[in-house]
Amino acid sequence: MPQAIEFTINGNSVSAREGQTVAAALANLGICASRRSVSGEPRGPLCGMGICFECEVTVDQKPHVRGCQLLVHQGMKVQTGA
Ligand code: FES
Repeated sequence: MPQAIEFTINGNSVSAREGQTVAAALANLGICASRRSVSGEPRGPLCGMGICFECEVTVDQKPHVRGCQLLVHQGMKVQTGA
């Protein structure tokens, strides 16, 4: 059975299942936008396989991380730009 992973999104404590990607965890929490376009429109995961870069978030102060390519881990700090 997958373990619960505790981490933060924009400073709020949340949990996800072990083995989920950050993008999937965001979607399960009802967070559909992970960043904003240059014109300010909210953007969110599109391809789910690392190609479109629409799922970029900041993780542990590292910007431009593709949320669909990173599994959640205990204590990580995710910051969305949306
Ligand atoms: S959803 Fe397309 S790169 Fe992550």
